[in-house]
Amino acid sequence: MKETVNDTLPLKYVLLFIALSFIAVIQTAQASDPNNGRVLYMQHCNTCHEPGREIAGAPDFNYGSAMMQSDMSLLGKIRSGKNAMPGYTGILTDRMILDIISYMRTF
Ligand code: HEC
Repeated sequence: MKETVNDTLPLKYVLLFIALSFIAVIQTAQASDPNNGRVLYMQHCNTCHEPGREIAGAPDFNYGSAMMQSDMSLLGKIRSGKNAMPGYTGILTDRMILDIISYMRTF
C-alpha cells in the first residue's frame, strides 16, 4: 500500500507537466502567423492593395498611417468591408484575418 502512495505522487506531477505542455503548444499555435498571412494576402487582397501601387482608391499599407490602428479595428473593417472594399465575413475566419494583419505589419 505504501508503494502505491509513493507511485501516485510523482505521476500527478507528470500529468500536470503534460497538461501545462499542451497549454503551451496550443498558445503557440494561436499566435498570428505572418507567413500564412502573406499567402492569404496574395490570394485575397493584393489585386487592390498591392504595396507601392495605389489601385482604385484602396489604401497602400506601405504608408504607416494606414496601419495606425489596432488589430481589432482593422479586423472589424476587413470583416464588414467599406464602400468598394468587399467584406470577408464567411470567406476568411478571424484567425486568417489576424494572420493577414500580422503580415501587413511587416510592410
Ligand atoms: C476589390 C478591391 C479590394 C479588395 C480585393 C480588398 N480591398 Fe481593402 N479596400 C479597398 C478599397 C477601395 C478601400 C477603401 C475604402 C474606403 O475607404 O472607401 C479598402 C479599404 C481597406 C481597409 C480600411 C482602411 C481604413 O482604415 O479605412 C482595410 C484594413 C483593407 N482594405 C484591408 C483589406 C484586406 C486585408 C483585404 C484582403 C482580405 C482587402 N482589403 C481586399 C479595396 C479592396
